[in-house]
Order: sequence, then structure tokens, then C-alpha cells
Amino acid sequence: MQDMNAAGLSLGVVGAGAMGTGIAQVAALGGIEVRLFDTREGAAAKSCEGIAGRLSKRAAEGKMPADEARDAAARLNAAGALADLSGCDVVVEAIVEDLEVKRSLFAELEAIVSSDALLASNTSSLPIGAIGAEMKHPERFAGLHFFNPVPLMKLVEVIPGPDTTEAVVEALTVLSRRLGRTPVRVKDTPGFLVNYGGRAYATEALAILQETVATPAEIDAVMRDCFGFRMGPFELMDLTGVDVNFPVTRFVHESSFGDPRLRSTALHRYMLETRRLGRKSGRGFFDYADGAARPSA
Ligand code: NAI
Repeated sequence: MQDMNAAGLSLGVVGAGAMGTGIAQVAALGGIEVRLFDTREGAAAKSCEGIAGRLSKRAAEGKMPADEARDAAARLNAAGALADLSGCDVVVEAIVEDLEVKRSLFAELEAIVSSDALLASNTSSLPIGAIGAEMKHPERFAGLHFFNPVPLMKLVEVIPGPDTTEAVVEALTVLSRRLGRTPVRVKDTPGFLVNYGGRAYATEALAILQETVATPAEIDAVMRDCFGFRMGPFELMDLTGVDVNFPVTRFVHESSFGDPRLRSTALHRYMLETRRLGRKSGRGFFDYADGAARPSA
């Protein structure tokens, strides 16, 4: 296994959406060569360009040295095929939250990467043991769960599955620190720690909304201005994406044998069905049509 502090360390990131882009950015800033792959045509290249643009803007504003921004951008490479990740020391997956799709991706990856490469999943809630259940070498696989937006959120959950070796947990912990994160080792339980402990923040707010006690804007204002949370539950769900937080909520609820504190609502599901996903679709609990967050119809 490669030393996670090695100068030439290379990281493969699969999935160039919100999370994959963020992971690629912090890795490039940590001095790591990044290869980013997405099945969506042009998505990986667009993601690399977006990161480079944001870093160069930060440098122009005097928020970071220009050479650091330039060097980090030069470490980003869009891969044309999954096979281009063959030489990577570590591969982190940040694709759609679907057990079968993730399993089949890891089956492909196992055939591509070297025998001592590490594999990790950024899943929000799927059991690491279930993703790894069909792997040939689950001992080199673990969860590495970042939070959105990755460059701002320092926490990362390191989640060993039932077969993960201690050396792999240690290596992913070292890697997380190199990425400027604060790693926390957590158990492979439903929702891990953050999405279990924090779930009721969303479900209580959804219940209050369903009971028509208050609007999303009012509930968010109370949580921000009265209780001191940085974001209200609805703006947070719009940032996460309803296509991510609805299945996570449903999964954690089912896994807790129907604990009513963790139950979602019909409106939450309806928003998924009508593709009102939040910021990524332009409309969720709020409307982002003109750039500002306004109450959604
Ligand atoms: P996203 O929808 O923004 O991006 C997913 C990307 O994966 C898309 O670009 C899609 O084209 C690509 N993709 C889908 N299947 C693929 C495949 N087989 N091979 C390669 N690329 C593929 O999703 P997001 O929000 O980045 O989430 C990704 C993962 O991270 C999910 O497992 C999610 O649960 C997890 N996560 C999401 C968080 C959030 O706040 N959005 C927070 C922490 C984890």
C-alpha cells in the first residue's frame, strides 16, 4: 500500500457531481494527482474547469497564493474511461446512491486497479458491508464520507466494513488529514453517525411543515436565528439534494424499524417524484430561478 503522504500519490474520483468535484478539489490542493471520471459525457472535464476557475478567482481576490491555485489545477485530469484510473493508489466513489450500481462499479474497479490500491465509497447511508459484500478483496475497502460542500465542511467519517483492515483505516485517516479534513472513525451502522444523529433535524422540520404550522422560510429562520444553526433544515435539504436526502431518510427510517422520529413525509417524496430536488434542479423547498432563494410554490 502506498504511503498516503507520498509526493506522487494519485487519487481516482468516480462521479463528477457535487461531491466528486469537491473531493477532487481538496485532493488537488493537498498535492495529490487526481483523475476524475464520470459516465456523463463531458462532466469530468467541466468539473475540472470549474475547480480551476474557482481557485483562480480565489487567487485573484488574494485569498490564496496564485502558484498554489495554478499547481492544484494542474493536478486535475479528466479521465475518458474508468480504465484510466488503473494506476491510482486510492479510488473514491461518489456516484448515484444505489447499492447495485455501486456494487457493479466496484466490481469493475477491482479488475482495473492494482492489488494494493485502496477503494472507498462516499455513500451517505448504504452499509459499507453491503457495498463490499461481493468484492474479491473487501479488506482494502471502506467508507470515506465527506460532507457538502466539501471544501467548507471539515468533517469526514471513516467507516470500516466488516473486513476492512486496520492498516486501511489508518491510511484513509492519514489521507483525510492530508486533504485538510478532520477524520472521525465511525461504525458501519445505518446513516453512520452524522446521518443518523442529524436525521431528526430534517424529519422534525418536515413534520412541522406537513402540519402547516410554519413555512420552510420560517422554520429555517428559527433554527438559524434562535438556535444558532448555520443553515436551516430546508436550505440544507435543498443544498444536499432531495434525490440524496429522501432515500437516505427512508433508509435510516427503515433500518431503525420505523422509529417515528426518523419518518419522512408525503411532501418530501412528492418533491422527489416531481424533480423539485433543490439547488441542482433550480427549485426545491425554495426557488433559485433568479439566483436568490425565494419561497417555492
Ligand atoms: P450528483 O448527482 O451531484 O453526482 C453524481 C455523479 O455520478 C453524476 O455526475 C453522475 O453522472 C455520476 N454517475 C452516476 N453513475 C455513475 C457511474 N456508474 N460511473 C460514473 N459516474 C456515474 O450526486 P452527489 O450529491 O455528488 O452524491 C454522490 C454520492 O455522494 C452519493 O452516494 C451520495 O449519497 C453521497 N453524498 C452526497 C452528499 C450531498 O450532500 N449531496 C453528502 C455526502 C455524500
